Amino acid sequence: MAFNIAVAGKGGTGKSTLSALIIRYITEELGKPVSAVDADPNASLGALLGVHVQNTIADIREEILEKKADFAGMSKERYIEYAIEESIVERGKFDILTMGRPEGPKCYCYVNNLLRKYLDKVGTTYPFIVTDNEAGMEHLSRRTTNNVDILLIVSEPTIVGALTIQRILKLADSLPIIIKQKFCILNRVPKDGIHENLQQKLDSVGVEISAIFPFDQEIYDTAACGASIFEISRENELYRKLGGFLQKHLPSSMFEKSMAGHM
Ligand SMILES: Nc1ncnc2c1ncn2[C@@H]1O[C@H](COP(=O)(O)OP(=O)(O)OP(=O)(O)O)[C@@H](O)[C@H]1O
Ligand SMILES: [Mg+2]
Repeated sequence: MAFNIAVAGKGGTGKSTLSALIIRYITEELGKPVSAVDADPNASLGALLGVHVQNTIADIREEILEKKADFAGMSKERYIEYAIEESIVERGKFDILTMGRPEGPKCYCYVNNLLRKYLDKVGTTYPFIVTDNEAGMEHLSRRTTNNVDILLIVSEPTIVGALTIQRILKLADSLPIIIKQKFCILNRVPKDGIHENLQQKLDSVGVEISAIFPFDQEIYDTAACGASIFEISRENELYRKLGGFLQKHLPSSMFEKSMAGHM
């Protein structure tokens, strides 16, 4: 049974960056394979991992609705299973499935029901699934199985960020899946730390912050150059801090025979 990590938060807070770093940590430091899911319509996880994604689940959905799919003698169900397998890009220690652009105004229930049956199975034989979600967590709200072990709610270190964390925590409670643990993270925090007004706000609304990740120049430079997260130094401060966070919160059995001692 896969250990399911979901990353959520408002747009632009660092969800994809942290998802990509988590995938790197698990594959490189723990030596375990990861099934990555890019569930953000504005897909970018593939690019951050240095992978060129050609086919998305949105493409399969549209092909079937537009009746452009070539079933090549397969049943519709078998075709969907095949098309999902084909859309997964495999890259050594991880593979990635990309959900793609949002749905248009058509009626998608029928095809979504067909897709769900197979999407729920994706990655379940892997030790880890890491999902980069969109702000509304639509992808998670559609799932009926595969509970989330850890939900990371990523936020900017501002009052708007604090209010968004509150909203996402409520939204998470309303999802039809079990989320075992939720962690709120402040990302891109300046070197002087978080403002005292923000700390007061977080205390007053009862939001507990589990990790504070700094603004990191190397991460910024890597993004500015369009390079992959695998280019970042292993000594990178954000990567090390994230590693420390994961060591604290992932089951200790996941660290057996790993290289985690290097972090
Ligand atoms: N800790 C950090 N230090 C410096 N830059 C960061 C950090 N975290 C993220 N960034 C940068 O912030 C920008 C937004 O990050 P990212 O794309 O990961 O956010 P996102 O939440 O996935 O955004 P979107 O909602 O658009 O998908 C990127 O340019 C990324 O390189
Ligand atoms: Mg993103």
